[in-house]
Amino acid sequence: MKGVTVLGSTGSVGVNTLDVIAQHPTKYRAVALTANQNVARLFEQCVAHRPDYAVMMDASAAAQLQQKIAAEGLAIEVLLGADGLAQVATLPQCEQVMAAIVGAAGLLPTLAAARAGKRVLLANKEALVMSGQLFMDAVQTHGAELLPIDSEHNAIFQCMPALVSGRSAGLEACGIEQILLTGSGGPFRAVSPAALVDVTPDQACAHPNWEMGRKISVDSATMMNKGLELIEACWLFDVPPEKIQIVVHPQSIIHSMVEYVDGSVLAQMGSPDMRIPIAHAMAWPQRMSSGVERLNFFDIARLDFEPPDDTRFPCLRLAREVAQQKGTAAAILNAANEIAVAAFLAETLQFTDISRVIEATLSDVSAHAATSLDTVLQDDATAREVAREHVARLGAVA
Ligand SMILES: NC(=O)c1ccc[n+]([C@@H]2O[C@H](COP(=O)([O-])OP(=O)(O)OC[C@H]3O[C@@H](n4cnc5c(N)ncnc54)[C@H](OP(=O)(O)O)[C@@H]3O)[C@@H](O)[C@H]2O)c1
Repeated sequence: MKGVTVLGSTGSVGVNTLDVIAQHPTKYRAVALTANQNVARLFEQCVAHRPDYAVMMDASAAAQLQQKIAAEGLAIEVLLGADGLAQVATLPQCEQVMAAIVGAAGLLPTLAAARAGKRVLLANKEALVMSGQLFMDAVQTHGAELLPIDSEHNAIFQCMPALVSGRSAGLEACGIEQILLTGSGGPFRAVSPAALVDVTPDQACAHPNWEMGRKISVDSATMMNKGLELIEACWLFDVPPEKIQIVVHPQSIIHSMVEYVDGSVLAQMGSPDMRIPIAHAMAWPQRMSSGVERLNFFDIARLDFEPPDDTRFPCLRLAREVAQQKGTAAAILNAANEIAVAAFLAETLQFTDISRVIEATLSDVSAHAATSLDTVLQDDATAREVAREHVARLGAVA
């Protein structure tokens, strides 16, 4: 029986992870669940999965959860805050840690899991984008296993020879020419740039193929998600950004491809359902069922491809520029994006100003060599402050 800690269990990836765990009760057990403030959902999950620990970031939410757990007579210890997250990411009874907290908040517990030598199931791309080399070094030094959950990176992993999966031999040694990173293009793929000014958070979150949390849904709508994924892929597969081509594929049936020097292209396909990469990464190198609907190629009938439009989606250009740099530029980009997306979701910033906030922040905040976590966190904090100023300035104009 393998113990799994699910960081961010109440979110979209977290719920899918618990679904996969529930399908394999003799192989996996959720040993710890965590949430920010969603007491009702975390309590439901505690009743269903009986973990050893439940963690909440918010003190009053933790107190409410504690009361409900006591009233139900459950033997579950409730922990609080960042210390609680770090504790459950490193438990001796936990072999795998699903990193499914959204945003920079996931960095420290995910890094703690890597430092404890766990199998890290990485959905929280922001953690790797921010900390890059430091994170990869921690994985290497502490003998952790890093398995990608983002469907694109999981697809790339599946299309690579076992040796290179999870980085080691290098692309050239394996005869890989380039990576083709696919993306649906999001809900505004075909919307005119002029019409993007007035889009609402609900429109931005109505993704055509995937049901996801609101932050990543907005990232998909701006295509910053693809930009963050580009940076993530560079670290995961030890590949320079120019070896990664972004391919817009509106049906989301192909989840990414690897092209070899002999002209062969391997693609991983499946229904757009996160339970596929989750089940794959949990069971790897074996396979196990995921409960996902099978593809019917006669229903699909056609697959379309087009190049990305950097003019309509400036976030993609910004992320590609940052991917060329080392150091804390990616942490600055990520921090500015988190602030701008939160402001858009709170309806204090227009959709088209998200990229403006990020570009202005990148130009105002100097990047440094990412020699320590403190440097990364310092530049993250500075970028958030500067981005908030740009949000206030642009929001006041809107
Ligand atoms: N959704 C997808 O299909 C998908 C696909 C690929 C990659 N990802 C990546 O996976 C991560 C999670 O995405 P999601 O869509 O599952 O997000 P989500 O639905 O918004 O869930 C986020 C989870 O993180 C918790 N959380 C939020 N803020 C927190 C904080 N400050 N400290 C600790 N926990 C916090 C939330 O708790 P509450 O419920 O209490 O707020 C929730 O459990 C993101 O990095 C995303 O880019 C997602």
